[in-house]
Parts: sequence; structure tokens; C-alpha cells
Amino acid sequence: MCGIVGVVSSENCQHQVLEGLKKLQYRGYDSAGICLKMGGELVAFKAKGSVEDLEKKCPENMEAALAVGHTRWATHGSVCEKNAHPIFSANKHWAVVHNGIIENFPQLQYDLAKEGVCFKTETDTEVISALLALDNFKDPIQNLIWACGRLKGSYAICAVQQSDQNQILVAKKKSPLYIFSSGSESMVASDPVCFPEDQYYRLEDDEFASVSQTGVIFYNKNGKRIVKETQGAITKQSQISKGVFKHFMLKEIYETPDGLNALSESFANFDFSKMRKWWIGKVKLIGCGTAYHACLMGARYFKKHLGLDAEAVTASEFRYDKVILDTSTLCIFVSQSGETADTIAAAQKALKHTKKIVALTNVSYSTLSSMTPHVLSICAGPEIAVASTKAYSCQVAALYLLVMALKGEKELKNALKNVKKTSKLLEKFYVNLGRFAEDISACQHVFFIGRGSDYITALEGALKLKEISYINCNAFPAGELKHGVLTLIDHSTPVIVIATEKQTSDKTMNSAFEAKARGGKLYLISSQMPNAASLDKFEMCLTLPQTCPDLECLLATLPLQLLAYNVAVMRGNDPDKPRNLAKSVTVE
Ligand code: M6R
Repeated sequence: MCGIVGVVSSENCQHQVLEGLKKLQYRGYDSAGICLKMGGELVAFKAKGSVEDLEKKCPENMEAALAVGHTRWATHGSVCEKNAHPIFSANKHWAVVHNGIIENFPQLQYDLAKEGVCFKTETDTEVISALLALDNFKDPIQNLIWACGRLKGSYAICAVQQSDQNQILVAKKKSPLYIFSSGSESMVASDPVCFPEDQYYRLEDDEFASVSQTGVIFYNKNGKRIVKETQGAITKQSQISKGVFKHFMLKEIYETPDGLNALSESFANFDFSKMRKWWIGKVKLIGCGTAYHACLMGARYFKKHLGLDAEAVTASEFRYDKVILDTSTLCIFVSQSGETADTIAAAQKALKHTKKIVALTNVSYSTLSSMTPHVLSICAGPEIAVASTKAYSCQVAALYLLVMALKGEKELKNALKNVKKTSKLLEKFYVNLGRFAEDISACQHVFFIGRGSDYITALEGALKLKEISYINCNAFPAGELKHGVLTLIDHSTPVIVIATEKQTSDKTMNSAFEAKARGGKLYLISSQMPNAASLDKFEMCLTLPQTCPDLECLLATLPLQLLAYNVAVMRGNDPDKPRNLAKSVTVE
């Protein structure tokens, strides 16, 4: 993953790069570094930890003509200062910041070592600076084009050279890179959210650029100059702050109703007439992590309301599996960021077989949005916390609305009412979990069970809790407990029971009582209170308000998100930046 920023300006480049990097920490936050060009020399500062840690190590107001910075999510090489970017060539003439993975780096290292190159880091990136340092061409951009021709994998690169020329050389393949230029300053970044204005260039794969203070020159992979148009419309910075909340995650949970309302408005105004004419043979819904859970829920809606053969597949499986697709297959790609490498690769695969491709994303300028013929926004608004919350609810609601929109205008109208009603209920339903969170925070393992849509909610609840609490959490279809899992239940095992589905909730209760009989501690999240006789079997019963059955999952999800948040805070973890993870997973 990783985030990169470069600035060429007469103003304080160092400050601008550090501020940009702070906005990119959703892409990785295990270490950070900056390279400043001062009087033709390259000077670097690095820190293990966050950009704020790096900032403390940088002397103030260094008068740099240009600066490039990096916030890292380690792929190759441990988390330490040595492996933090910028990565220098052995002769110190070149410094590189890189987002992506160079897949053929062992071979390149071997070849370069034979020529006497000595590697100092454990990173794949060092082969890039080593290739540049061969200085095969006089023109630095030709050097970069040549070096990239030898790379396999994915990269967004900013390279700077020890010389009199103040320029950042950039290259892109599969990892995003954007360029902003105002005539008096220029910037490069992994996300245009770093730019001061919302007009910028989007670099495409195999395009290169030399970025100087006064402008940008673009090249294709043959070294020929090309002309590019700017594009625009990004999220305004003012929207991205914690406001009165202690963490982004909590704020974002509270923003769910706003997202659902914006989604309803957008779907009410969207023209579905073209899609309604599609002849759909089968449906594949593809995503990763939480987005995959939304896909599971979406597949249920397609089966239930349209009687279609619908299947959810994780993008990392879809891209390599033998999947049978034809022109009648509707493929729906779900991704909050629209930058998840596996989802993008899966979409590329699907595009070879069908044009009935819809992307559901939260970022209008994302790679996924730009490559798919039909894009629907989930309208959740910026989501910063690594744990996806409001985006999940909006993804589920968007899939529900899409299914109902395909069914017909009248059905969409009703569905919009249902979403509005659910959103209103969510506004008032911010439960105090009290002892529930305390109990769970003291556990080492937690089980979640449910059937049908409740099983999907259980999967999402377990992912959320494990992601930020670091507790081992597992979700099972309730009926599966007796096929193996019961062996793990003892008097210290909490079992969180989700039972909103009328037709299966009795059965789920039976499975829960089987766990209770082995000592399990039951916590119930249900649309109905259990009968008086079984009440004392539960440590806690949380009764959900009633909404239409298709959207009860959103009401059950909310307390699970709050549970994960509270447990993480009680255990002293930062819920916004869990260890080892990043918000945007741009590598395979
Ligand atoms: O941006 P995407 O929706 O494509 O991200 C997919 C997953 O990486 C993401 O949902 C991840 O599972 C979340 N951290 C879960 O909270």
C-alpha cells in the first residue's frame, strides 16, 4: 500500500509534504520518511511510526526546493528506519519513494549484484534506485522509463536525482498517482485529497511525467511527449475532521443515517431505465473484507426479490479462479475505496467477458469507478477509520435499492421508504452497551452465530471486533456449531447470538442453548425479546427496533460496530489505526 507525496515549490515544501502524508496515513502508518533537495543535495529523515513521529525528527523550515515523502505499510522488509522510504541508490545520487510491489525484485537484485551493486535495505524498492543509478541515459526521464521497463508488478514512483534540476520524476503502473500543477507549484500524490484545488491530472498505467515548479511534462512508455487533460471534483478537506468525536470510527458510525439519506436521494434521482432492459442470466458480487460481506447480503437480495442465481465471491479468489462468465452475467464490484488491488484485478477480468458491470464505490475518482461502465455511489461520505462502518451499511442498502430498482419503479419507491425508516431508527438507536463491552474486552476468543442474513451480520461483527480489538473472533452458521466448533466452548467462551430472521430465529436459539449447555455465555441481539423462560440463559439481551426484514441487518450491525469500538478503546488500542492494517489495500 503506502502513500506518497511530492512537492516542488518556492514555499515550504517540507511542511506541505508532511501535511499531505498525514492525509495519506489511511494507506499505511508503520513508518514514514521524507527526502528534501537542498542546493542540489538530497537529505533524508525517517521514523518508525507515524508521520507525526517523523515530523518531530525533522528540523523546522529547511529551505528545500523540492521534497518527496512516504508513509509505509510494509510489504518487503521489516518495519524499521532502514526500510522506510526514501530508498537511496548506493551512490546516493537517486532517492525513490514507491507504492506497490516489484514482483521480480529477487531476479533484479541477483542481476545487479553481479554488476557489483550492494543492497542496504530489505525492500523491493531498492532495485528501482539501483537501476536508476546505472544512469544509462543522459536524460533522467529516459532513465526512469528504461528502469520501469525492467520492473514487473505494481508501482507508483517518485524519483529525485542529485542535480541542479529541481524536478520529480514519476511513473505509474497499477498503483494510483495524481499530479497537481498551478504554474507556481506542483504536487504529486497517491490521492488528490492532498491537493489544494480540485483540478488535477490522473496518471494512467505506463505513463511518466517530469514535475517541476512551473509545470508538468507527460510521456508515454516510448518516451514521446503526450498531452493530458485535467479532471476534478474531490472531497473538500473541511469534511474530513473528527469534529467532537474522539475517533473517526465513532464519528463514522454516527454518520450512518446521513449516508443512508444521501444514498436514498441519489438512487431516487438515478436513471435505471437502461439497466432494467438488461437480460440477466446470473449475478456475481465481488469485493474484499467488509465489502465482501455486503456482497453476501446483496446476493440474498438478488435471489429473494429477482429469483436470480446470485453468488458473492471474494475478489482475491475471483481473479484467479475458473469463473464462468458470459455477456448475460451481471458483475457487481463493491469497494469503499475503489482502489483495492484484488477488486480492480477482478474487474479487469470480468470486463473481458461482460459489459454488465456495476461498481459500487464511495470514491468517485477511484480507479474502480474510472474503469467500469456503470458506477453507483454508496454516498457514505469520507471514511477514514480503517474499520469500515457506515460504508458497510451504505453498501448493503445500495445493493438492496439496486435490486429493487431492477425490479421496478414502484418497488424502488417502497424500498426507498424502507431505507428512510431504517435510517430514522438508526438515528435514535445508539445503545449503551455497558457491561457487554467490558465482558468481551476481557476475553481471548469470541464466537458469533446466526442463520441466513444473521450469519452474514455475524461474519461482519466478528471481522470488526477482531480487526480493532485483536481478540480472536469467529463467526459460524448457528447450525454448524455441533459439527465441530462446540469442542471449543467452555465456561469462559462468549457466544454472540444474532437472531433477527423470523423463520430461523427459533433454530438459532436452539443452537445457542447447545452452546450454553457446554458453559458458553450467551449475548443476544434480536428483534424480539426471548420468552420469559429462557431469559435467564442470556448474559444480556439487546432488542432491536422493528424495520422491514431486508434491512434488519443494519440495525443488528450498529451495536456490533459500537461493541468493537468500545472493546478496542477499553483494551487501549487505536480503533482508527489498528496494527498491521491499512485502509486502502492497493497491493495484492
Ligand atoms: O476499500 P474496500 O471496500 O475495497 O476495502 C475492502 C477491505 O479491505 C475492507 O472492507 C476491510 O475489510 C475493512 N478494513 C474492514 O473493516
